[in-house]
Amino acid sequence: MKVTVVGAGAVGASCAEYIAIKDFAAEVVLLDIKEGYAEGKAMDLMQTASLNGFDTKITGSTSDYSKTANSDIAVITSGIPRKPGMTREELIGINAGIVKDVSGNLLKHSPNAIIIVVSNPMDTMTYLVHKATGLPKNKIIGMGGALDSARFKYRLAEALGAPISDVDGMVIGGHSDTGMVPLIAHATRNSIKVSEFLSEEKMQWVVEETKVGGATLTKLLGTSAWYAPGAAVSGLVQAIACDQKKMFPCSTFLEGEYDLNDICIGVPVILGKNGIEEIVEIELTDAEKAKMQESAEGVKKTNGLLDV
Ligand SMILES: NC(=O)c1ccc[n+]([C@@H]2O[C@H](COP(=O)([O-])OP(=O)(O)OC[C@H]3O[C@@H](n4cnc5c(N)ncnc54)[C@H](O)[C@@H]3O)[C@@H](O)[C@H]2O)c1
Repeated sequence: MKVTVVGAGAVGASCAEYIAIKDFAAEVVLLDIKEGYAEGKAMDLMQTASLNGFDTKITGSTSDYSKTANSDIAVITSGIPRKPGMTREELIGINAGIVKDVSGNLLKHSPNAIIIVVSNPMDTMTYLVHKATGLPKNKIIGMGGALDSARFKYRLAEALGAPISDVDGMVIGGHSDTGMVPLIAHATRNSIKVSEFLSEEKMQWVVEETKVGGATLTKLLGTSAWYAPGAAVSGLVQAIACDQKKMFPCSTFLEGEYDLNDICIGVPVILGKNGIEEIVEIELTDAEKAKMQESAEGVKKTNGLLDV
């Protein structure tokens, strides 16, 4: 199993680290345009191998895609992150060109790769890869919902005063401050609906804090977060590499599911060796359906800025 991660910045390096620590891949190639940067990150990470007990080989490359040849999975994290006060949508001007270029280069050397898109605005970048590459839709996966769900669970545990292992919940919809749809009516503590434990007001607080989870961290850090994003990507990579058939909310191209068409947006999917093996259509409440439609309108508006 060979995995390429394009962009050896904060998220790319964190993602490579978590993949290595989980020790399921033979090789991870980090690639960046900054001279020597990916090589440096790869060497630093390799020097943690004996300390963290993994055998995954991590190598770095400055813009040489021949080193990524025959990758099974490729992760795109290249591009600029947001600064405090920015929305993810504002990154489109720079990141669209980068993501289009990178996906073309990756596929020249790894025509069979499954692509995971991380760069923001992620749903629109996933749609761009879909339009630009012509890859089958099961092979293009946008990562956002796995991270947003982890942030949802963090806030749920906080509100409940419970350990995170006791809570479960999912966020679907667009990966944006306004577009996320945390499924609070479906969230549970040890299989019991959280509405049994939390007031309406507290549940609303969880939902709002989840939606601005990324913005809260960007304000604190001065740039966007990387540990949870890296861990979330590594979870998707592992589910594919190990054919786990695990369910995650991922951005995927929809053709009628959830009454949506010609859009990539977060919905529950099953991930296995073929990438997205199934789109799971769950019964949403009327309020959730309305929020999903509103979220899709926002994503489509951003997609409209693309030159595809
Ligand atoms: N989908 C999500 O849930 C999620 C979460 C966090 C961050 N992000 C996004 O991921 C992206 C990366 O964030 P980061 O914090 O790692 O940024 P970063 O600036 O730390 O790293 C980005 C890296 O991309 C490299 N790069 C730029 N153009 C390139 C190209 N053409 N080819 C190869 N490498 C190139 C840069 O040199 C840099 O090292 C941003 O767009 C950010 O908004 C998405």
